[in-house]
Amino acid sequence: MIAEQLALDGGIPVRETRLPFHRPRIEEDEIAEVVDTLRGGWLTTGPRTKRFDREFAEYVGAQHAVAVNSATAAMHLALDAIGLQPGDEVVIPAYTFTATGEVVLYFGARPVIVDVDAATLNIEPAAVEAAITDKTRAVICVDLAGTPCDYDALRAICIRHNLILISDAAHALPARYKGQLVGTLADLTAFSFYVTKPLATGEGGMLVTDNLAWAERAQMMSLHGMSHDAWKRHTAEGSWYYEVVAPGYKYNLTDVAAALGLRQLTKQDRFRSERAAIATHYTAAFSEIPEVEAPTVPDDVETAWHLYLLRLNLEPLTVDRARVIEALGAEGIGTSVHFIPLHLHPAYKDRYGYTPDSFPVAYREYRRAISLPIFPGMTQDDVSDVVAAVAKVVGHYRR
Ligand SMILES: Cc1ncc(COP(=O)(O)O)c(C=O)c1O
Repeated sequence: MIAEQLALDGGIPVRETRLPFHRPRIEEDEIAEVVDTLRGGWLTTGPRTKRFDREFAEYVGAQHAVAVNSATAAMHLALDAIGLQPGDEVVIPAYTFTATGEVVLYFGARPVIVDVDAATLNIEPAAVEAAITDKTRAVICVDLAGTPCDYDALRAICIRHNLILISDAAHALPARYKGQLVGTLADLTAFSFYVTKPLATGEGGMLVTDNLAWAERAQMMSLHGMSHDAWKRHTAEGSWYYEVVAPGYKYNLTDVAAALGLRQLTKQDRFRSERAAIATHYTAAFSEIPEVEAPTVPDDVETAWHLYLLRLNLEPLTVDRARVIEALGAEGIGTSVHFIPLHLHPAYKDRYGYTPDSFPVAYREYRRAISLPIFPGMTQDDVSDVVAAVAKVVGHYRR
């Protein structure tokens, strides 16, 4: 069979108009809620943010939720709440976004990077246990692509060594581990509402926990360490008086963002089903193509399908991942790469002297990973175009 000419080489592209890697789904009720907020005149943290806290906590089944302006802020506040000190160690996976590690560095503490499971790309519990020292205070696990970590194993390790388990659940809304929603599986859990995330307010995040003292500390530190927030100060039942208890941060979420969040929260199950349907279609189609591997989802979890991480089998291909991405782009398909492992970045590599093979699984899997478009609102044609483009490109570069 003669391979089809790629758009990259002057052939006809699969699509005329580019399918973006992601497009946020904003519906009329979200727009109306934002307009109401603007008309109401209370733009920053106020009644809608408070309602968002309550409804989010209820949705995931946690006792407390503190809305903030990013998941990075939520994780920073989590580490502050547990009293992380300079010189402490926090175990984190290599396969994640820098936010998971930088928040540890904010404290003068050390992010101790460990390798991941090859199938899920989630932190390897045995590697966590092997990395524990007398300085270890916490573990931050990441539910990569929205697939929950092995929480039973991680919790058992944390209990055995008296460590706090923090979940970086930036991708994991909604996701279930053995039937239980992410948000109640760790001591503290951070969600992201960044524009590409399942619930998107542009920028935003949420810290959830069942521990009242941590929630109160995080709430206070999210707004300058003040003992009352702006809303309470300016309403009749509050008071103008406040005390700054500690040098805090400016991490509060605005009511404009909370308006988007409140409406989107009601749609998370529907959005997840739409992503799951896309994933099912992809996985069935890719099972026919030996040069690619569909994501593995363990039997006892329900992934959020935030990302669809296709892996290339590089052996039967004549080109590398970068060339495949370029060729897919020319066919009209936007893609992305999640993630460049932390130990390859100068900020971590130079500080701790890592080489690519310090974490061989993360390194190997990163080099063959491509994130495909998976967002609610993609049409059947969009999905078919992605499959056609992948088949065309890998077919062309087959040895
Ligand atoms: C795994 C992971 N953790 C944390 C973050 C940070 O989220 P935010 O942008 O809300 O701070 C991201 C964002 O991309 C992420 O992918």
